[in-house]
Parts: sequence; C-alpha cells; structure tokens
Amino acid sequence: MNYKLWLAEQTASKLEGVSVEALAEWIEYPPNPQMGDLSLPCFKLSKQLRKAPQAIAEELQQGWGEHPAVERVEAVAGYLNVFLNKASFAADVVSEVLAQGERFGSQNIGEGRSVVIDFSSPNIAKSFHIGHLRSTVIGRALYNIFKFLGYNSVGVNHLGDWGTQFGKLIVAYKLWGDEAAVEAGGIDELQRLYVKFHDEADVKPELEDEARAWFVKLEQGDEEAHKLWRWFVEISLKEFHKMYDLLGVKFDSYAGESFYNDKMAAVLEELKTKQLLEEDDGALLVKLEDYNMPPALMVKKDGGTLYHTRDVTAAIYRKHTYDFEKAVYVTDAGQSLHFQQWFKVIELMGYDWAKQLVHVPFGKVSLEGAKLSTRKGNVINLEELLTKAIEKTREIIEEKNPELENKEEVARQVGVGAVVFNDLSNNRIKDIVFSWDEALNFEGETGPYVQYAHARACSILRRAGAVDTASAKLELLTEPAEQGLVRELHLFKERVVQAMDKLEPSIISRYLIDLAQVFNRFYKECPILKADVNADVQAARLALTKATTVALTNGLALIGLDAPEKM
Ligand code: ARG
Repeated sequence: MNYKLWLAEQTASKLEGVSVEALAEWIEYPPNPQMGDLSLPCFKLSKQLRKAPQAIAEELQQGWGEHPAVERVEAVAGYLNVFLNKASFAADVVSEVLAQGERFGSQNIGEGRSVVIDFSSPNIAKSFHIGHLRSTVIGRALYNIFKFLGYNSVGVNHLGDWGTQFGKLIVAYKLWGDEAAVEAGGIDELQRLYVKFHDEADVKPELEDEARAWFVKLEQGDEEAHKLWRWFVEISLKEFHKMYDLLGVKFDSYAGESFYNDKMAAVLEELKTKQLLEEDDGALLVKLEDYNMPPALMVKKDGGTLYHTRDVTAAIYRKHTYDFEKAVYVTDAGQSLHFQQWFKVIELMGYDWAKQLVHVPFGKVSLEGAKLSTRKGNVINLEELLTKAIEKTREIIEEKNPELENKEEVARQVGVGAVVFNDLSNNRIKDIVFSWDEALNFEGETGPYVQYAHARACSILRRAGAVDTASAKLELLTEPAEQGLVRELHLFKERVVQAMDKLEPSIISRYLIDLAQVFNRFYKECPILKADVNADVQAARLALTKATTVALTNGLALIGLDAPEKM
C-alpha cells in the first residue's frame, strides 16, 4: 500500500477542510529513522487552522489506539512523526514487490493515452555526438517511464535529413568527393567534405550560392540531387544503427524532417489564411515581437523551408496521427528559443493543444573547454566511447571473473550501462564537462555499482538454492538495516511518478544508487547464508533480497540498463 496516502487519509479524517491530496504532498520521509517513517510538518496547516504547529501535531497524535499498522506516534517540534509497525510494514511492502514482479512500480495513470517523445534525432552526414547521446538516453528513459505508467509511448526519431546543409554537401561531393571514399569512410568522410566546404567557402563565397541552388533543386525533386541525398541518408543511418544497437534503443518512427516535404505547403497555406504570415524582404515569417521573441522564419527568400517550418508541420501531423496528450521534445537547452517560437506559432494558429507541447532541455556537454561543433570536426566519437567502455569492462571481467558465461554480452551491458548511467546521474539541465575518466569510472555512484549490487543479490539467491519466498515470515524483518531496505523499496513507486512529472530520469538513477547502498548495508549487517542463522530469518532475508533484485531490475530497465545476474 501507499503509506503516504494512507497517512494523509488518516489525518484528513481528523481535520476539517484539509484535502487528502494536500496532506499527501506535505508528508515527508524523515531522513533519520529517529524521527519516524513518515512525518507531517504541521506548520503547513497552522495558517488554515489558526493554531500553532505543535498544538496541531499534538492533536493529531491522539486517537491512534492500537492501530495495527502503527508502532507509535510522536509530536515533536511541530511535526507529527509516525513510526510504522515494523513487522506489518515489512510484510506488506515485500509481499507486494514479490507479487508484482516486473510490474512492481508500474501504474495505469495514462490509461492508454499517447505521449509522443521526439528524441535522439541526429543529423544526416554529421556525426552522432555526445549531445545526441544525451537526447537518446534521456528520451529513451522517458519513453520507458511513460509506458510503465500506462501511457502509449510513441518514440519518434526526427532525423535531421533535410536542410541547406545538403546543398553544401552535394556541392562538396561533386567538387572533391569520391564514391569509394564515401562508402569506406562513411560519416567521417561526409563530414570531411562538409568541413572542406566551409573552409573553401570562406575564400570563395559563391560556393554558398551554388549550395543554395542545389538545395532548392533537391526540394523540387531533382533526380540527381535526390539520389545523392538518399545515399547520404543510407550511409548515415547505417552508422546510427550501430549506435542504437549498442544502446539497445528502438523507435516507433523514423519520420525525419524530409518526411514533411509534401506536407509543408498546406501548413504554409493555413498560416496565410490565418493571416499569420508576413513578407519581409522576400522571406515569409511569423512575427513574434508581441511575445518578446524574434520572428519565426518559415520560408527563405530563395523559397527554401526551414527547421521551424518542418517542426510546425510535424507537430500538426503528429497530433492528427497519434492524438497525443503530450508531445515531448528532448534537445539541448541551446534550442529552447526555437521551441518557444514555434510552440507560439501553433498557439497563434488557434490550436489549443499548443500547451501539450513540451520542450525537455538538457545541459550542454563541453570537452575540456572546447566547443562541440560539427563544423570544426571537434567531437567525441561516440562509437569510440562505447567501444572503450566495453573493452574496459572486458578487461575487468578477464581479471576478476574469467569463468563468466557470455562475457561479451555482459561486457556490453556493463560498459554501455556505465556510459548511459553517467549521463543520467545529474539533473538533465546541468551542463556537463565531459571527461573520459568519469565516463569510464565504475566505482562509486555509477551504473556498474548498481548492476553489481543486483548481481550480488542474485548470487546470494543462487547459493541459497530453491527459496520459497511465498511462505517466508516477512514480519521478522525488523532490524534497522532490513527496515531501511523496506523503506527504500516502498519509495520506488513514488519515484517513478516523480520522474515522469518532472521529466527527469535522474530521479530513477539516484534512487537506484540509494537502493544499492541500503542493500549493501543490509548485506553487511544481516547475515543470510551463515550456518547459525535461524531458518525463518534466513527465508525472510532471502525474500527481501529477492524483492531488491526486482526493484533494481525494474529501475535499471526504466533508464535503459540491463541487470545481468552474474558479472
Ligand atoms: N536534429 C536536431 C539536432 O541535431 C534535433 C531535432 C530535435 N527535434 C525536433 N523536432 N526539432 O539538433
């Protein structure tokens, strides 16, 4: 059961005019068990009830009698501190975890309504950089979290497969490119051509005009332009898929920017009819000065469309196609203005669902002060990062556990897991200075640390042999370390909902670190397999260990990590 809600209901019935929801919001889990398992800060109520917090706490302390779920209730310094009955608390929580198994922590909040998550969305012919990794892992976690909470998650990879850069690339390829070199070098070679274009265009500006002309040709369906473009897309996708396979990421749709080519005219027409489009020196734009924003450019002077045009069109298409309740866009914070601008355009078009559009920004990644820019070619090669992480894990396995079965798979699960977890371990909005050492660190608050706690728990269960957790006397789990673990398990469900509400996967990663830590404490303080442990106590501790593996596995899965049983 949900103990916060339960206490809120208990106290609401003793107070007039205070809602259960408000109380549930205020009730805290005290950091120190000396202050109870749950605590209500009564100063939250004192204004409404016109009473001192301590007086309220003392009133609420009355009338608990011999409540079976409660050990004792204290009124201290304006707080109502509730100490749960340890036996019933443990039995209730652990049996629930075990009964729900892989569904533990899930709820049907979404009732099947759709949430579209636009994430990863790398750009064709440019490298998949660490910013895209962030979008990929944050977006994938949000996808899983919404799904776990009963939504129909729709993952869209809005590939950057359209735009003036393709005009540049075509010019560069025709001038300096070579088919075999592109086939062999892939994105690196395309990027080399792209960088060369910019270097040359610095001294030969007419190249820019040529590039613009080629992009217009592409937009008009010119056969040669289209063939080259298609080829660039295929070469890039091949490399992106390598990354997605390593990360274990899937999308429901790969409808990228080019998908909207034949859909933009109707939207531009609609903007015109709604009198939102203004001409400015040959270009068409939506003025946003009333909202303190620069105008959203929709059509350039040369007739080319823009990132904005395609995002507005895509949103309308997605609303029709998926009837979303929320559409989430995961990109770095540098694009915030872009999203604010076109969200406003949707609103001005009269679509009330504009408020369902949400930008989920994340902080920039810098590399020792250097700026991450594809133009300079100064990027962390992500494939290299993941490969290095896997290699390092392989070495550790060879050293510590050379007999391990399916070493390769475990090396991938743990190596990639370390990189992903590292990315998700801070609030997403925080800027990150990328460090190889940190991304490849397996000690401390890392993914491998959590995965290792899980593997350790699995190993205990294996060594114990067949465990009948169903008949275990869970009410025996009253030791402080056992109770600490029970408390942490009980928190999981709430943390998942918080992660969804705040669109913040790091809430799950931090929870997992806490859970692994309290499990390790339990493992140290409460012997399980030692000969002198009473059989009933042993069975109960094994059940608690099993419940921990369930919560760790479910939590890791939400943020995209596997939970190997051996490592
Ligand atoms: N391709 C863009 C980039 O690499 C991200 C696209 C995000 N999604 C969107 N609908 N604008 O920065």
